[in-house]
Amino acid sequence: MIQRKLEVVYQPAGRAQGANFQDRSTRVPPGTTLFSAAHWIGLPIDSTCGGRGTCGKCKVRVLGTQLDVTTADHRELRQDEIAAGWRLSCQARVEEDLTVEVPQLLRVPKAATMGLGRLVILDPNVRKVYLELEPPALHDQRSDVVRLRDALEVEGHDMVADVAVLRSLPSTLRASDFKITAVLAGEHLVAVEPGNTTDECFGIAFDVGTTTLVGTLMNLRTGMAAAVHSTLNGQAPFGADVISRISHAMNGEDSVRELQAAVVRTMNQVTAQLYAEAGAGPDRTYEAVVVGNVTMLHLLFGVDPAPIAVMPFAPAFMEPVAVKAEDVGLHIHPHGYVQTLPALGAYVGADIVAGVLATNLAREDKLRVFVDVGTNGEIVLGNAQRTLATAAPAGPAFEGSQIKCGMRATDGAIEGVQLGDRIDLQVIGGDVKPAGICGSGLVDAVAQMLVVGVLDHSGRMASRADLPDHPLADRLIEVDGVRAFLLAEGVYLTQRDVRELQFAKGSIATGIRVLMDILGVTVGDIDEIFLGGSFGSYLNPESAKIIGLVPPVDVKRIIAVGNSAGEGAKIALLSYRERQVAFELPSRLEYVELSGRTDFNDTFVEVLAFPVMEPVS
Ligand code: FES
Repeated sequence: MIQRKLEVVYQPAGRAQGANFQDRSTRVPPGTTLFSAAHWIGLPIDSTCGGRGTCGKCKVRVLGTQLDVTTADHRELRQDEIAAGWRLSCQARVEEDLTVEVPQLLRVPKAATMGLGRLVILDPNVRKVYLELEPPALHDQRSDVVRLRDALEVEGHDMVADVAVLRSLPSTLRASDFKITAVLAGEHLVAVEPGNTTDECFGIAFDVGTTTLVGTLMNLRTGMAAAVHSTLNGQAPFGADVISRISHAMNGEDSVRELQAAVVRTMNQVTAQLYAEAGAGPDRTYEAVVVGNVTMLHLLFGVDPAPIAVMPFAPAFMEPVAVKAEDVGLHIHPHGYVQTLPALGAYVGADIVAGVLATNLAREDKLRVFVDVGTNGEIVLGNAQRTLATAAPAGPAFEGSQIKCGMRATDGAIEGVQLGDRIDLQVIGGDVKPAGICGSGLVDAVAQMLVVGVLDHSGRMASRADLPDHPLADRLIEVDGVRAFLLAEGVYLTQRDVRELQFAKGSIATGIRVLMDILGVTVGDIDEIFLGGSFGSYLNPESAKIIGLVPPVDVKRIIAVGNSAGEGAKIALLSYRERQVAFELPSRLEYVELSGRTDFNDTFVEVLAFPVMEPVS
C-alpha cells in the first residue's frame, strides 16, 4: 500500500541577506514533525535538545496557515512570535502541504565525509556539557540533581538521571568544586565527570556479520575514526550461516545464552583492540551503535531467534533497541548505551537499513539498486519517491560452500580469474599455491568461461571433444564422470558448480526483476547499481553483469560500495538526526515478501539462463 505523502517546502529566512541554502522540499507521511522532515533531506535546523521541545532553538515560521500552538511553543516562544507563525519545528506536525521559513544557522556545523562521499553533520546523540555549578548554600538548598538539571536546562538540555549515576553524584560534585562535565546520551545522564573532559568523547560502530564482526572506534568530537578492527564472529563453531545458528538456538535457553556470550565476547575482543590502538578506554566511550542481520541482533540480546526461521517469519523484534551497556556486558562505559538500528523484515536486517542510510538511496532522485550478495541476497530498489526492499534466498554458492573446490576468502583462495589464450589467476595471499575458489573467484571464473565460449548461455559446459581447437581445450576435463574446467592444479569448476551459481544468481536476479516490475521501471531507468556487503565489495562488477546477477547497465554504473553497513552504523553514531532517519526507514520503505509470489517462480525460470554473449569480433 502506498502511503499518502504531504509536501513540505523549506525556505531560508532572510533570503535577501545571502541564504546558506536554496529552497528545499520533501514529501513526508502525515504526522511527521517539521524537524524530522528536515532531517530526511539533510537540512540542519538548530537544536541542542535533539527534538525534545526543551531548547527552543528549532523554531521555523509557517507561511500561509496557522498551525496549532503546543505547550512547548508557549513555553519557549514569545507571544508575538507565535502570532507571527513561528513554531518549534520538533513539535509541529505536518497535516497538510506546508511552506516554512528556516532561520540561518548561527554557527557553521561541523561535518564529516561518510558513506559514498556524503557530508554528515556532526551532531552525535552523546553530548558532553562542561558546567560550573553554584555550590549549595543555606539560601540555596536545591538538591544536586536539581542543581545539575537547572544548569543543563539553561544550556538547552533535558536530563533524566537514574540511580546508578546518582550514587556517585554527590562525591563527584564536591571533589571537583562543582566544576564538572555532564555526559548525556539523548536525555539520559550517563556520567558526571570531574573537570572539563569535553575533548574526550568516543563511541563504537559495530557491524556484526554472521561471519565477520567489524568495530570502529569513532571520536565523536572530531567525527574521525580512531581505530578499526575486525575479527571472525565467535559464533562460528555453532555453524557457518544464520540457519545453523538458529538451529543451535532451538536447543533451548542455554544454547541461546551460549550464542549470546560468544558474540559479546567477540565484540569485547574487538573493543579491547580498538582501545589499545587508539589509546582510549571504556570510561570515555559512551555509546555503541550495532547493526547486523535480524538473527545476529536477536542473539546479541539473548532473544530466541527461532521464529525467524519458520513461516510466517515473524521475529521477536525489528524495532531499534537501546539498552545499557552493562546489561549486555559490552565493555564501554557501564551506564552508556548499546543502540541498534531497525530491520525491515526477518531477512532484511539493520545491516541493510544501515546500507540504505549510508548510500542515501531512499532520499535522492537517482533510481538505484542496492544488492548485498550472500546466502541471502538483500535487495533494495528505488529513490526518494518510492523504495522497495526484499530478500532472495540465494543459497551458499556465493560463500564458496557446496562448490566442489569452494572455500572461504582466505589465503590460497582464487578470487579473480582472467581467461584468454591462457589462464591468469588472482590468489589471496599473493604468491601462494591456489587451494580452492571463493565466491568472487567463482563469479569471475563463470563469467570468463562464458566470454571465451566454454560455457553456453544455458550454463552447459563444453567438453574437449566439443572444442578440440579451443586454446583452453586441455582445461576441459572430467571429474568422476562430470564435466569440469581446470583452473589450477587440483582446483576446478564442475558442471554442478556452475548450476549452483546459476541458481544463486537466478534467485537474486529474480528478486531485482520482481521489484522492478512492482515499481514499473526498466533497465534503462536504473541510474546506478550498488554492490554491498563483504562479498559485494570484492565482486568484479563486469563479471556480475556478464553472469546476469545484476541488470545490464553500463559497467561504470555498477559500484562496489564497501562495508555500507558499517558506514551506516558510523553515521548513526555521529548524527542523531541521521539515526532518526534510519529509525524512519521501515515506515518509508515497502518490504516485499518473495515467498509465495507466483511471479517469483515464473521470473526465476526466465532469468536462470546466462545472458547471451555478444559475439567477439
Ligand atoms: S529541537 Fe529543541 S525545542 Fe525543538
